[in-house]
Amino acid sequence: MVSTKVDLCGMTLDNPVMAASGTFGYGYEFAELFDINMLGTFSFKGTTLEPRFGNPTPRIAECREGMINSIGLQNPGVERVIDEELPKLAKCLHKKVMANIGGFSVEEYVEVSRRLDKCDQVGWLEINVSCPNVHGGGIAFGTDADAAAQVVAAVKEHVSKPVIVKLSPNVTDIVAIAKACEKAGADGISMINTMLGMRIDLKKRKPVVANKMGGFSGPAVFPVALRMVYQVYEAVKVPVIGIGGISTAEDVIEMMLAGATAVQIGAMNLVDPYICKEIVEQLPVTMEKYGIGSLSDIIGGAH
Ligand code: FUM
Repeated sequence: MVSTKVDLCGMTLDNPVMAASGTFGYGYEFAELFDINMLGTFSFKGTTLEPRFGNPTPRIAECREGMINSIGLQNPGVERVIDEELPKLAKCLHKKVMANIGGFSVEEYVEVSRRLDKCDQVGWLEINVSCPNVHGGGIAFGTDADAAAQVVAAVKEHVSKPVIVKLSPNVTDIVAIAKACEKAGADGISMINTMLGMRIDLKKRKPVVANKMGGFSGPAVFPVALRMVYQVYEAVKVPVIGIGGISTAEDVIEMMLAGATAVQIGAMNLVDPYICKEIVEQLPVTMEKYGIGSLSDIIGGAH
C-alpha cells in the first residue's frame, strides 16, 4: 500500500495534486464532473479587492503543446468571493482551499489577504506577484526581489495562515527572488506562473490576443518549470509547489524529485477537465512502477 500524503506548511494533503488558480474556477464548476475532494486541494481564481471585468477579447491563443492567455484577473472582487463563491464551494469541498490573491499595490495585497485569512475554508494564501497580463500589478512586483519581498513582509504582518508566494519565470534570476521572499517570511513558494508569449494571425497580420501578449503555459513549459524548481529547492528551506506543464502522474513524480512538495495542474484542466482526477488515480500505480512507497520520501530526491 503506497502513501501519497504530503505535508504542506503543517497541513497534510491526501496527495500532492492541486489544480492551479485560474484553471479551476471556484471549484464547484468542476464538482459537477467529479468529486473534487479527491484532489490534494486547489487554488481558486486570482482575487482582487474590487471586481474586475478583465482584458478585452480575444484573450486566448492556441499553440502547439500549450496556450496563451491574457484574462486580466477577471474576478468578482473579494467581497463577492467571500459572500457568494466560497459558500457554493463549501457544499462540495470538505477540505481547505488555497486562496490566490492579486493586487495593484502593497495595500491591496494586504487588504485582500487579511479578509481571506479570516475565512475558515481558506488554508493557505497564495500571493500572486506574477500575473503577466495586467499593468502596474502582478508581475510588476514579481520581477523585482525587493518589491516581491515587500509584498510578502506586509501580508505576513496581517495574517495568521501560511503565505505562499507565486513567482514568475519571466526573470533572469528566480532564485534571488525566491530567497528574498523566504527572508521576508514566505512560508512557501509556488512556481512557475506563465511565460510571456504571443501569436500572430497570418491573415490579419495582427496579434491573436487583443492585449498582444499573454502568458504561455502547457506541456511545452514543463522542462523550464522543472529546472527552476530544481534551482529554487537548492536555495530555500520552505516548501516549493511545482507548476508548469504537468500532464501525467510521471510529471508529478519528476517535479517532486526536482524538489516540489506538491504540484499544481494548470493549462491541462482546460484541455481535459478530468485531468486532475486521472492523475490522482494514476499516482499509486505509477509509484509502484518506480518502486516508490511514500511520495513524501522522494521530495528533492534528484539532488
Ligand atoms: O490574466 C490572468 O488573469 C492571469 C493571471 C495569472 O497568470 O496569474
